[in-house]
Amino acid sequence: MEKQDIIEQIKSLKTQKNAVILAHYYTDPDIQDLADYIGDSLGLARQAAETTADIIVFCGVHFMAETAAITSPEKKVLIPAQACGCSLAESITAADIRKWKDANPDGLVVSYVNTTAEVKAETDYCCTSSNAIKVIEHLGKDQKIFFTPDKNLGAYLNKETGSNMELWDGDCCVHEFISSKLVLDMHQQYPEADILIHPESSCSSDDAILNHPSTFFYATSGIIKHAKESNKKQFIIATEKGTLHQLQKENPDKEFILVDPKVICSSMKKVTLKGLYEALLYEQYRVVIDPEISKKARLSISRMLEIG
Ligand code: 13P
Ligand code: SF4
Repeated sequence: MEKQDIIEQIKSLKTQKNAVILAHYYTDPDIQDLADYIGDSLGLARQAAETTADIIVFCGVHFMAETAAITSPEKKVLIPAQACGCSLAESITAADIRKWKDANPDGLVVSYVNTTAEVKAETDYCCTSSNAIKVIEHLGKDQKIFFTPDKNLGAYLNKETGSNMELWDGDCCVHEFISSKLVLDMHQQYPEADILIHPESSCSSDDAILNHPSTFFYATSGIIKHAKESNKKQFIIATEKGTLHQLQKENPDKEFILVDPKVICSSMKKVTLKGLYEALLYEQYRVVIDPEISKKARLSISRMLEIG
């Protein structure tokens, strides 16, 4: 089938089956252009919880589709590609969390949303990069916290909130690549540019970067908002390449420079037009969570959604 025919088929199947297409900003431009809603982790979790559609086709990685299945247990949640893993979600198990809780009965576990349903079920509070500061501040500086699984985001949060959270040693294999040197070298080439950095990046707790007058730290939706509202004309983007699509679409008069062409999440790119078409046609691949796990995991997600 030609590309345009696949697109028409996707649109028609979507209406026929009362389905909604949710896509993360890191997916391919073709997928983003077909989505009913494009968002970052927090925005997508909210949309999944609120939609009235019967089917959610989740164009993103597996933990995100799981989150949708947890918040909308009555809906059919489909993911168009299998084996869409995430190095963060794969770095920690529910047993790891239980071990820490047994040794720290007075502590709380805050897990980034980039975790499996089983880990969320053992977690007290979830957070995303959009609301992590709010969640940590809500718990207070004196609370003993185990932050999992992203050590880079955790170190950034410790600096921003003055907390002293214990950190799990996980990282995003994509943002880990974004070092202070990479950012500063690029800024030498574009000294007028604002530098918009995702806090999963390995440079995000380096004081030289944190205190640099041109750096700003945001989740993906914050990066997009900053670029839109700023009077600047040039921006260095220190996050995944897919974000450039919306940035360029919304700001045709501005220039966006990816900090390095290799900042690509291969899992997100597994979602293709053909895969999306087949997901709608065959109603595959359904994401099913054990009801007991789902019930426990929902609690940590809803605590996060209530905070902000
Ligand atoms: P956000 O969507 O919260 O910006 O996180 C980025 C990410 O890496 C998602 O996997
Ligand atoms: Fe996971 Fe990193 Fe890919 Fe996000 S960009 S899905 S954190 S591997």
